[in-house]
Amino acid sequence: MEDRTLKISKIREGTVLDHVPAGKALKVLSILKIDENAPYSVSIGMRVPSKKLGQKDVIKIENRFLEKHEVDRIALVAPEATISIVKNYEITEKFQVDLPERVVGIVQCSNRSCISNKKEPVTSEFIVVSKKPLVLRCVYCERNMGEREVHSTL
Ligand code: CTP
Ligand code: ZN
Repeated sequence: MEDRTLKISKIREGTVLDHVPAGKALKVLSILKIDENAPYSVSIGMRVPSKKLGQKDVIKIENRFLEKHEVDRIALVAPEATISIVKNYEITEKFQVDLPERVVGIVQCSNRSCISNKKEPVTSEFIVVSKKPLVLRCVYCERNMGEREVHSTL
């Protein structure tokens, strides 16, 4: 029978982000500052069928390898994403992103009078109260931030 499944080509060299929650690919691209000027090939699959998740997004970026601070941000948007590093068509490294217990220096507190938003040399810091749905609590003012608020600061 004719194969009717759509496959995104394998990449030679670069990074594959798989098991990204359906619809979050564009947010991940914005975290990685990938826009129409990106100088490399990027393939994006949005809401593709997945056995594990029902639907998922997939991003393949040729010739780009991610920094730790980028992976830390992606964890807040796609806590179950799998990242594969591809070299000469082979996966040389594969790991799941990991949402840490504390999020330091990434998210801005939504409380404007929080000390972390003043001119003090204070780095923002949140405790991950819940991963699903995402809730972060500011260690300074104890304000809780939900997923939408958190994502809007990334
Ligand atoms: N991949 C790619 N180019 C390569 C090698 C792998 O684009 N040269 C992609 C695959 O298409 C897949 C991801 O990297 O989206 C992970 O590859 P692999 O571990 O082989 O796939 P699965 O076993 O299906 O992964 P999982 O069990 O994590 O779904
Ligand atoms: Zn605060």
